[in-house]
Amino acid sequence: MESNWKLYQDLETILYSREQIAEGVKKLGQKITQDYQGKDLVMICILKGATPFFADLMREIDLPLTIDFMVVSSYGASTKTSGEVKLVKDLDRSIQGKDVLVVEDIVDTGMTLSYLKRVLEGRQANSVAIASLLDKPSRRKVELDVQYSCFEIPDAFVVGYGLDFDEKYRNLPDVGVLKPEKYL
Ligand code: IMP
Ligand code: MG
Repeated sequence: MESNWKLYQDLETILYSREQIAEGVKKLGQKITQDYQGKDLVMICILKGATPFFADLMREIDLPLTIDFMVVSSYGASTKTSGEVKLVKDLDRSIQGKDVLVVEDIVDTGMTLSYLKRVLEGRQANSVAIASLLDKPSRRKVELDVQYSCFEIPDAFVVGYGLDFDEKYRNLPDVGVLKPEKYL
């Protein structure tokens, strides 16, 4: 634990170090590179949590591709999902006929992505797949295929590498479990 950096003092434990993350992202990028040969790939970054993962992942994909951004409502200052998903910022360009890869920080209940997937499929994309840094399958409330994920994690509230609590901790280079006293 890098105790010389203040933000680390709020963590119970580090789940994935920056080196482990880089390794996982590289492997995922190689797999996506193989799977999307000859396709018209558009990577969609779900702001804000996916930004570090998105920036790293796209540089591990050796294919021509385009990028776009979306904002959907999330937890706010709570660690529980409201179950309601709102589209705050839409894509800049049409995805008709494109092979869409939605890039998220974490799949928890699955409600955000199952909603988004429905929206994107309704726009005549050729395909819609999901890439998520983290997956918490034990928390799933709706059925959802996550084609690409780096790490499956247990039911704990994690921060870092884009993931926040109350908009903080996104700049931590590693992923760690937040001390419960920080949000209870
Ligand atoms: P879902 O709709 O329940 O799958 O929630 C997805 C969103 O909830 C993610 O994009 C995150 O913003 C947030 N989220 C879920 N679990 C965590 C966590 O452990 N730490 C930080 N954010 C989380
Ligand atoms: Mg969030």
